[in-house]
Amino acid sequence: MSKHVTPFRAPVGTHDVIGPESAQWENVIALFAELAYRYGFELAISPLFEDIGVFNRGIGEHSDVAKKEMYVFDDRGGRTLALRPEGTASVVRAFVQHQPTTPWKAWYVTPAFRYERPQAGRYRQHHQLGVEVLGTDDPAVDVEVITMAWRFFASLGLTRVRLLINSMGHDECRGAYIELLRSYLGEHEFELCDEHRKVWADNPLRVLDCKKASCVEVTTSGPMLPDHICEDCRAHFDAVLSGLAALGVEASLNPRLVRGFDYYTRTTFEFVADALDGAQNAIGGGGRYDKLSEQLGGKPTSGIGFGCGIERLLLTRAAENDEPLTLLNRTLDCFVVDTTGEDVATVLLDELRGAGLAVNRAYDGRSMKSQMKVADKSGARLAILVGPQELAAGEVTIRDLRSTNFEQTQHTAARGDVVATITNLLTK
Ligand code: HAM
Repeated sequence: MSKHVTPFRAPVGTHDVIGPESAQWENVIALFAELAYRYGFELAISPLFEDIGVFNRGIGEHSDVAKKEMYVFDDRGGRTLALRPEGTASVVRAFVQHQPTTPWKAWYVTPAFRYERPQAGRYRQHHQLGVEVLGTDDPAVDVEVITMAWRFFASLGLTRVRLLINSMGHDECRGAYIELLRSYLGEHEFELCDEHRKVWADNPLRVLDCKKASCVEVTTSGPMLPDHICEDCRAHFDAVLSGLAALGVEASLNPRLVRGFDYYTRTTFEFVADALDGAQNAIGGGGRYDKLSEQLGGKPTSGIGFGCGIERLLLTRAAENDEPLTLLNRTLDCFVVDTTGEDVATVLLDELRGAGLAVNRAYDGRSMKSQMKVADKSGARLAILVGPQELAAGEVTIRDLRSTNFEQTQHTAARGDVVATITNLLTK
């Protein structure tokens, strides 16, 4: 006798996506793919793991994600690799490697892995939809990328989403600001939260990101980034704000918004959903990273993009509106019930699917009653019944599964007319 095995479960902080929830995922991804196509983006798929240097250099060794949250492992060849904690560094690594013609506009859908403390809306494997544009620092592209995300949320029916925006300046003006902030924090070191009291000097910008009351209090009276950016960066930022205003995209300035990765320069932004709990209410975020290509060994190339979490998008949708998304029709057209055991059902299914219909069947030669139960549960509009009588007459019986009055709604069709009859009935 085999030993009892306790059933395995998905690892902590991860989740399976199966029906009916997976139909919502299909909707969200298809909608994003369609929008990306309309905005001129091509799909990019790159490995889920990279040399650890891609992330350490890209997102910054001092970022929380690189320091505490990455899944790092040595492979059998002794290489130190990491599972991608986000999509941008890998896409830029692919850009540096393949040197596509610029501006290069790529979109992606990807899992991302972060060893965080799991809670509602925060997972160790989450999934992102995102875009990146490389090869231009035109503020028009900032406007386009931000607007695309804004329109995407609207097309998902989300109404309570706010856009927060900031400019982090370029290397030089940001560098000067960091020194100013460092000396200010030095004077207030003992007022910072426990964590930042120890590490503020490594990366002072992270203190601006801290949500603890003590850090918020100290930084509120300190120097703020937008007051210290150079004229060029100011002009760039003003052009972005003016473009957004021209399109009716409402942005509110948030001078604390420095985001969690070191690659950001100039425009940074985040979308927050008021329907979600404050701690995990960012449904998307992004910004410029004009130095990232060089940091990964490529030519100087400007870039900008955003990523949004599919789980949080769907949590927001559910909190705002409990109707499922039906942008893609994911209901079955027909269910074939066959009690003859002959090939007739197999042939019928093939014909109907070939005509573009969504069709399923029961297996294992079950009774008519049990097959009808499955047909009812399947959500299909119509059942196509083939029993010995229908087989002998060269016909099928068609029943509307949404009607309670079979007598009036039942149809008979000759085998050769099934596709036409079904197509006709489905349009009624
Ligand atoms: P991020 O803000 O770290 O940015 O993540 C983007 C989005 O992914 C967040 O706004 C959130 O919706 C979702 N997300 C992040 N972590 C989790 C988690 N643990 N559980 C569930 N959802 C999560 C980036 O990743 C950048 N690569 C965005 C970007 C693209 N910047 C420029 N281009």
